[in-house]
Amino acid sequence: MADKTATLTIGDTNLELPMYSPSAGPDVIDITKLYAQGNVFTYDPGFTSTASCDSTITFIDGDKGELLHRGYPIDQLASDSHYLEVCYLLLYGELPSAAQLEDFESRVTNHTMLHEQMMNFFRGFRRDAHPMAVMTGVVGAMSAFYHDSTDISDPWQREVASIRLIAKMPTIAAMAYKYTIGQPFVYPRNDLDYAANFLRMCFAVPAEDYQVNPILSRAMDRIFTLHADHEQNASTSTVRLASSSGANPFACIAAGIACLWGPAHGGANQACLEMLQEIGTPDRIPEYIARAKDKDDPFRLMGFGHRVYKNFDPRAKVMKQSADEVLDLLGIENNPVLQVAKELEAAALADPYFTEKKLFPNVDFYSGIILEAMGFPTSMFTPIFAVSRTVGWISQWKEMIVDPKMKIGRPRQLYMGATLRDYVDIEKR
Ligand code: SDX
Repeated sequence: MADKTATLTIGDTNLELPMYSPSAGPDVIDITKLYAQGNVFTYDPGFTSTASCDSTITFIDGDKGELLHRGYPIDQLASDSHYLEVCYLLLYGELPSAAQLEDFESRVTNHTMLHEQMMNFFRGFRRDAHPMAVMTGVVGAMSAFYHDSTDISDPWQREVASIRLIAKMPTIAAMAYKYTIGQPFVYPRNDLDYAANFLRMCFAVPAEDYQVNPILSRAMDRIFTLHADHEQNASTSTVRLASSSGANPFACIAAGIACLWGPAHGGANQACLEMLQEIGTPDRIPEYIARAKDKDDPFRLMGFGHRVYKNFDPRAKVMKQSADEVLDLLGIENNPVLQVAKELEAAALADPYFTEKKLFPNVDFYSGIILEAMGFPTSMFTPIFAVSRTVGWISQWKEMIVDPKMKIGRPRQLYMGATLRDYVDIEKR
């Protein structure tokens, strides 16, 4: 792969390091032999300049605000495709034929039910448990119920585990929601598509029929599509690192769910809506802008900024359009929270602090507004993100498992602690 070299001068030694040219994005310098040849480590907390792997799945150009899944731009996929077709694309690398899509959707549909005994697992949680805590536990526990798809060396078991996870995540998320509100679980239906099934499992009650609003299920499907994969983000890197030890896929996805929960990552959609609700009215926006800019105040504008995008997050643009459509159709176009969101966005983007630091709305800025309008509590926002991102985690996991370069991930460190010293008896301390 190396088509160039980089010369690194350390003292009076010149090291020649291989460089690779990607199909898109910056060249990379291969430092795998740096420690052996130069007896030095590189230092990159937060991995701001480090490629952890080579991948063919998703490409992000942060400056252009571009997001491609297997080369297809996210705005085209969001408007012309649908979530399960994007799942197929992410998993297998190409858009499916009609027959391939029908077979894939049928396999997913026929795996949406959860092992009946797992219901007891839910009942071990307090009713006020956060749904993300429930999902982390239940998905990890899947390795105790689906032993016939935990051997990662068996391609068939990897395929079954992939389909099971994609199929069962909406069921688990809906059950986590139902459990916390004290309503009975609603089983999946095979005559509904992925998004409609999820909405029905969340909002139907046995006491009456539930008709899924096609506009809401289309918006739900679009939210799933927009969150499906995003290169080597924190939770995907967590899944890759957990998988590098050979851990089973359910344990690795549970690790990804746990990481996604953080407010700097997938938890931002819940934190963002709560921030918009706390701001409450447009006249309070300047107070919060000032707090976000105050170095002594840890407050940050949730839903703003991104490690990679130094331009608009392309998903935020599509999400903003969806927010307008959904609220308009629900007759709540003058939703006060959406009003605050739009005026906050305008105020922040007129402020040099945000434009100079390239802090633009990200995927989480508008998603919460749509989800709240659909009737979800804020505690369900990140679980919905986790449902969608499962296909991204699984696709990256599958890519890594078959990579001949794969080895256990084991970063080193810049050690700044005490050097060798002898133990001191307590009487002498
Ligand atoms: C997701 O990685 C992915 O791809 C993630 C994701 C995905 O699909 O997987 O896109 C999903 O997680 C989106 C991001 C959601 N998080 C938030 O909305 C939380 C608020 N945003 C920030 O916490 C922050 O912007 C991050 C965590 C998203 C990115 O942080 P970085 O790139 O590490 O940037 P930084 O923390 O070093 O900040 C750079 C500067 C700092 O100021 P200085 O110290 O240079 O003076 O920008 C400031 C920060 O204080 N800053 C903000 C800010 N974000 C960064 N100031 C106010 N409000 C903010 N939101």
